[in-house]
Amino acid sequence: MTSRYDDVYAAWRNDPQAFWAEAAEEIHWTRRWDRVLDNDRPPFYRWFAGAETNTCYNAVDRHVEAGRGEQAAIIYDSPVTDTIRSISYSDLQAQVARCAGMLRGLGVERGDRVIIYMPMIPENAIAMLACARIGAVHGVVFGGFAANELATRIDDAKPKVILSASCGIEPGRVVAYKPLLDGAIETASHKPSACVILQRPMEAAELAVGRDHDWDEAMAAAQPADWLPVAATDPLYILYTSGTTGIPKGVVRDNGGHLVALKWSMKNIYDVDPGEVWWAASDIGWVVGHSYIVYAPLFHGAASILFEGKPVGTPDAGVFWRVIEQHKCAALFTAPTAFRAIKKEDPDGDLLRKYDLSNFRTLFLAGERADPDTIQWAEGQLDKPVIDHWWQTETGWPIAANCVGLGALPVKHGSPTKAVPGYDVRVVDDGCNEVARGETGAIVIKLPMPPGCLPTLWQADDRYIESYLEEFPGYYKTADAGFQDEDGYLYIMSRTDDIINVAGHRLSTGGMEEVLAGHPDVAECAVVGVADQLKGQVPVGFVVLKAGVDRDLGTICQELVGKVRGEIGPVAAFKTCTVVARLPKTRSGKILRGTMGAIADGAEWKMPATIDDPVILDEIAEALRGVGYAGG
Ligand code: COA
Ligand code: AMP
Repeated sequence: MTSRYDDVYAAWRNDPQAFWAEAAEEIHWTRRWDRVLDNDRPPFYRWFAGAETNTCYNAVDRHVEAGRGEQAAIIYDSPVTDTIRSISYSDLQAQVARCAGMLRGLGVERGDRVIIYMPMIPENAIAMLACARIGAVHGVVFGGFAANELATRIDDAKPKVILSASCGIEPGRVVAYKPLLDGAIETASHKPSACVILQRPMEAAELAVGRDHDWDEAMAAAQPADWLPVAATDPLYILYTSGTTGIPKGVVRDNGGHLVALKWSMKNIYDVDPGEVWWAASDIGWVVGHSYIVYAPLFHGAASILFEGKPVGTPDAGVFWRVIEQHKCAALFTAPTAFRAIKKEDPDGDLLRKYDLSNFRTLFLAGERADPDTIQWAEGQLDKPVIDHWWQTETGWPIAANCVGLGALPVKHGSPTKAVPGYDVRVVDDGCNEVARGETGAIVIKLPMPPGCLPTLWQADDRYIESYLEEFPGYYKTADAGFQDEDGYLYIMSRTDDIINVAGHRLSTGGMEEVLAGHPDVAECAVVGVADQLKGQVPVGFVVLKAGVDRDLGTICQELVGKVRGEIGPVAAFKTCTVVARLPKTRSGKILRGTMGAIADGAEWKMPATIDDPVILDEIAEALRGVGYAGG
């Protein structure tokens, strides 16, 4: 099939508002928009101004009314609890309406915030949809974050209610959520008026009298609540993501633009049809989970697999193929790191060949750079297209992709292909001038961004402008660097800030440095992302101790590793820390983190002209060898 990509991209470029107005016809509105795009107050843009809709209605009730009531909406497959449960659109409607009623009963009204801190269980999605049903704004917090991170989010979002569960299951251990939740509420200045806790059989939680409610009891006592129309421009959710400091950014998503963009993406990017089974093997706590485990497949009337497990070890590296065969899954979306994990355990694909993958059409990868080795291995084993695509929490849906639904373009390994219709992507130099094809620069998106992208940061318009819009006037700064080749294919090579990508999880090294600096023995520190065969990158910490500290260095490093795990969470994968006498700096005092990372990776690096004392780099190399980095 020849690709329609060029024509569709040109149609969007020719008249963006007409393009999105047409896409919006796929959505149920209770009031149509006055304007497709309200651009009266740049750099703030609002899509479908004046329109009213309900996200939950479009995800659930609408499909029941259209005759999909008996079809699976969510297929919960949990190898860690040995459970498989299919939830039909009718079941989902009943549970979501009841959950919405439960929230109402606890005083939650339109515009109020609700924090959801839950593992990968259907109730997590039910809670999100219930908030959307009554116009409440949800803030889902990933379970692998520590109490302190949860506390920061509670203080920023100021939730009326928190929904949680007694525990999560990680391979080999039960993670008690309730002590983390209690700790977070104790630390936070803002206190929710109620918490509702789902008691899982693996570990029950103690409920605080007066504040905590049992999920099952509260659901049983609740009256189902109907959906209510909200403004297309009202916030649907806040999703916190790493910024350049320990204070996360609250990315806001609206209702209308999000509905339109995500619905459009399911067919045109992912080529999935209503009624088909789709699987995004991520976590609901991340943007991929919000958009492609919960919202987009449901907007589309597809069945979405909600998987509580890992690509390996639950029970083995064949689990992805078992799930695909068992549920007749048409397409899978995951992070390259998951495939690196599978490849390591099953390099010859022996496990893969045990399963019937005849229904499976396409593998999509995102979340980190898809290294050509991994893509080639996946292509070789699966004999299906492997599609890399690039996006961010901020955009909520792909910026660049090979839009399979429009007819795939030739794949170039290492490239997520071209800008998706809706995005005008440029590569620029520091002065915001476009660079020549093939030359590396900062990747920016011309404003306005398409529907679905963040309209601002939660109650932080100034931070929104300062973080994304100030440096390149008229453009959104992606903070990714890369280049475009002669054919217009994009290559996303690295971040321009301190964000590192660990097993597809976005983390701030600055945030980790803040934690290390809080240790009483630490005078100065640097955290650097170094290459890791499985996780893509892992953080390595370098600390300089205060004068006179003579405690055992191993003990101090252990304390520091424990501190990051305790304050940020296990997901940071901060396991390596080393004490050095000095940190390499420029003459103006800037720590040379990039050079340290390059030394660790064994990559080629140039002696920075501005370094104040080159000898320090030998000391850093020595320290890296001491913690197992051969490149050092
Ligand atoms: N609750 C509590 N702890 C959690 C958690 C959660 N929801 N999720 C992860 N953790 C913990 C893990 O148990 C692990 O702890 P440990 O240090 O005690 O082993 C740590 O956080 C790191 O977890 P993870 O990143 O999952 O690494 P892993 O070594 O357990 O597994 C992979 C490696 C590659 C198998 C795994 O990272 C993976 O499946 N990645 C896919 C990533 C993904 O879906 N990204 C989303 C973007 S598409
Ligand atoms: P997150 O906000 O967690 O989705 O992380 C977004 C960041 O992950 C991007 O800014 C990129 O740095 C990186 N990323 C995501 N997808 C890709 C991809 N396909 N190729 C390269 N980097 C990617």
